[in-house]
Amino acid sequence: MSTLTDEISRRRTFAIISHPDAGKTTLTEKLLLFGGAIHVAGAVKSNKIKKTATSDWMEIEKQRGISVATSVMGFNYGDYKINILDTPGHQDFAEDTYRTLTAVDSVIIVVDVAKGVEQQTRKLMEVCRMRNTPVIIFVNKLDREGRDPFDILDELEAELKINVRPLSWPINGGAKFKGVYNIYEHSLDLFTPNKQRVSERVEIDNLDDPRIDEAVGEADAEKLREDLELIEGVYPEFDKEEYLQGKLAPVFFGSALNTFGVKELLDCFVEIAPTPRPTKAEEREIEPEEEAFTGFVFKIHANMDPNHRSCIAFVKVCSGKFERNANYKHVRSGKMMRFSAPTAFMAQKKSVVDEAYPGDIVGIPDTGNFKIGDTLTSGEDIHFKGLPSFSPEMFKYIENSDPMKAKQLDKGIQQLMDEGVAQLFINQFNGRKIIGTVGQLQFEVIQYRLLHEYGAQCRWEPISLYKACWIESDDPAALEAFKKRKHQFMAVDREGRDVFLADSAYVLQMAQSDFPKIRFHFASEF
Ligand code: G4P
Repeated sequence: MSTLTDEISRRRTFAIISHPDAGKTTLTEKLLLFGGAIHVAGAVKSNKIKKTATSDWMEIEKQRGISVATSVMGFNYGDYKINILDTPGHQDFAEDTYRTLTAVDSVIIVVDVAKGVEQQTRKLMEVCRMRNTPVIIFVNKLDREGRDPFDILDELEAELKINVRPLSWPINGGAKFKGVYNIYEHSLDLFTPNKQRVSERVEIDNLDDPRIDEAVGEADAEKLREDLELIEGVYPEFDKEEYLQGKLAPVFFGSALNTFGVKELLDCFVEIAPTPRPTKAEEREIEPEEEAFTGFVFKIHANMDPNHRSCIAFVKVCSGKFERNANYKHVRSGKMMRFSAPTAFMAQKKSVVDEAYPGDIVGIPDTGNFKIGDTLTSGEDIHFKGLPSFSPEMFKYIENSDPMKAKQLDKGIQQLMDEGVAQLFINQFNGRKIIGTVGQLQFEVIQYRLLHEYGAQCRWEPISLYKACWIESDDPAALEAFKKRKHQFMAVDREGRDVFLADSAYVLQMAQSDFPKIRFHFASEF
């Protein structure tokens, strides 16, 4: 019988993150193919939220329905149990994506070789950096004309603010792409465009091996040797410890679409990627090996059917063994709860599960008991630290359009915020509610859901805001003075923390220089 430690040591729970279109879906699919979780390419495609500038969010809602199944994809690969957590790629789901990153132990970042580091990747990397999440980078689409790999490495370092170390190296790119040299395993993989099959591998003894010249031609072999020499000179040896501390990102090159370089990535990943890591709670750090079960809710997925206000709460198991029908404490309410139909996500199927281990995700059907960040335990009162909220990018006043339904509106707003759809601030000056989102589409989603799920009607009114910043100071008098001076622009967030609403970059800058004792934060945790 396997022990808790065995189960933990074979688990790898991670997310793939990228800017839309870099190849996240394609790579996910190829990993699932290797794991035998799917048998044909194209199976994950339906998960993809159309990234075209559709403001028809019903389409997105439809896609969301499908994406419950792909929110978590578990599969076995050799002795390993791998859990891939899907991060919605659409811009407007960025909040959800951030939170998913609280539940993973490492990430793979996909970068398009022609486009380099793009905006969303940069943002997601910030979250990884805050949490010291180990990252592996996969530079994709080598079969297309792209940038020079050395330039890409420089850009990765500069833009993602992390040291990099190539563990594979491409031989040309685009039409002349011949393959990659696997620095990690000292082998040469030759490229043959093929969307289903893995390509040919040439075993070589060392870099002087004439088999390299035979395989790729003398000129390219020479260039490869020069490049590798340069790499060895510039980049220190790959240090697994540094990777595990989130300080160093190994880089692989390949083409997800052609299943090229993907297996190398996966094999290296399972070997070096962390097993479930300890989780920080306010009270103490929880080790996965602890016998008592603990877990937290990192995502809530609302039901598609507005007549049943049920949803699925996604719980990440942090320690111990989760068991069906056992009694667990919902720490926020203090209530004991039993779950008779928890689901596990294997391949792309959801099925009732009897037990789950650290690193696993269980889906718990819920009717509104759970909030993002809630902790479940075997009895101990612990509170896991969630992910901070980031200052939203768009703001609107939300107003009630149907005076008979004020209660429904309040309840709806509250539950949607619990689900983490957007952020709510209450202006202390006029008492009005402000909703902050990361994208325009979320306003439409909120309005639609309030109407269809809560029977409440709202309308939006413009507010000109640049940023919402959480403020604090060691000097209570200075804090009071600031709040008094800026009383028209002060708000509180859902936890009652002080938030300064800056209406322009200039105003914020002035406030920062006029009030040196006040610290301004762009995330709610500091
Ligand atoms: P995303 O999830 O990160 O948004 O990206 P996705 O995998 O959907 O890939 C975006 C596009 O890039 C897709 O083309 C996909 O086929 C293509 N792609 C992915 N990997 C590679 C690669 O290694 N080489 C090349 N040349 N293309 C790649 P699409 O036209 O948008 O979709 P589809 O019509 O192919 O489904």
